[in-house]
Amino acid sequence: MENNKRPESMERITNMALANAFIAEQIEEIRGQVGNKKVLLALSGGVDSSVVAALLIKAIGKQLVCVHVNHGLMRKNESENVVELFRNQLDANLIYVDATDRFLNLLAGVSDPESKRKIIGKEFINVFADEARKLEGVSFLAQGTIYPDILESIKQAEGKKAVKSHHNVGGLPEDLQFELVEPLKLLFKDEVRVVGEALGLPHAMVYRQPFPGPGLGVRCLGAITRDRLHALREADAILREEFDKNGLAGKVWQYFVVIPDIKSVGVKDESRYEGWPAIIRAVNTTDAMSATVEEIPYALLRQITDRITKEVDGINRVLYDLTPKPVGTIEWE
Ligand code: XMP
Repeated sequence: MENNKRPESMERITNMALANAFIAEQIEEIRGQVGNKKVLLALSGGVDSSVVAALLIKAIGKQLVCVHVNHGLMRKNESENVVELFRNQLDANLIYVDATDRFLNLLAGVSDPESKRKIIGKEFINVFADEARKLEGVSFLAQGTIYPDILESIKQAEGKKAVKSHHNVGGLPEDLQFELVEPLKLLFKDEVRVVGEALGLPHAMVYRQPFPGPGLGVRCLGAITRDRLHALREADAILREEFDKNGLAGKVWQYFVVIPDIKSVGVKDESRYEGWPAIIRAVNTTDAMSATVEEIPYALLRQITDRITKEVDGINRVLYDLTPKPVGTIEWE
């Protein structure tokens, strides 16, 4: 725990100059720790793992092996964007695994939210471990651990109750125990973002909204089916596009679509049209412990409703969730 404590003297990284100094220091440290060995990283495309990847690419180039597992529960184009940025633009050594079938087959018929989470978390480790076993000469595992994660672990070690368990690859099997490389472990989230920008990552990636580890799995309520998951992905893409176009993307903390496992009767082309409702959620918060609902302009709500019902097969109603946290949680599952 000793070097897991942020020194009181450590200055908060608030600008490019401080970020560049941090990057230079970390590059030295990583090179010293790793030598000419290989480092493995599970690259989800989230802020933390992306910043770790960019930092390690700078420090050790192709000695870093990134594995991106597409669990089939990513948002529209998300995996494609990770491959485009890291493999094509940053020339990273990137293994892309499309594990959609593995995940969706295991999840078929499972409706309990906690069981779904457990299946997704466990299978993620299985897929990642399968890839790791195929590689030779890997000695290190890089992780996007940040300081709040460390503080949470300290609290747990002191016997306090965990708020939530973190979705990372800490549960790898015995035969795959690596030494850890955690260059962001003393940083807070806002500092990670500044470092990300200093490393040249796109603003949209560094400032992207939080996305749960189990992805769209917890927004396609109840037992996941491929058709409803597809509708969810398309509706969510429309919501994000409209928020972007209307200047809400950088302003609202988290916004997404949820599709419950119910159908209602509607009418389309003068015929009965049974479909799912798409539920829009848009919330603001500072710490995700409580949240308020964004007051979306009515005209924009109408525009989103119009587009989703016209463009997405299987959706015949759009609803806006007005519930703050508490009493609702941010996600529906
Ligand atoms: P709730 O729904 O608990 O969400 O109000 C609070 C924040 O946590 C995110 N969230 C998760 N993140 N794995 C994650 O990595 C999860 O299983 C998970 N569940 C919720 C949620 O998106 C929100 O930002």
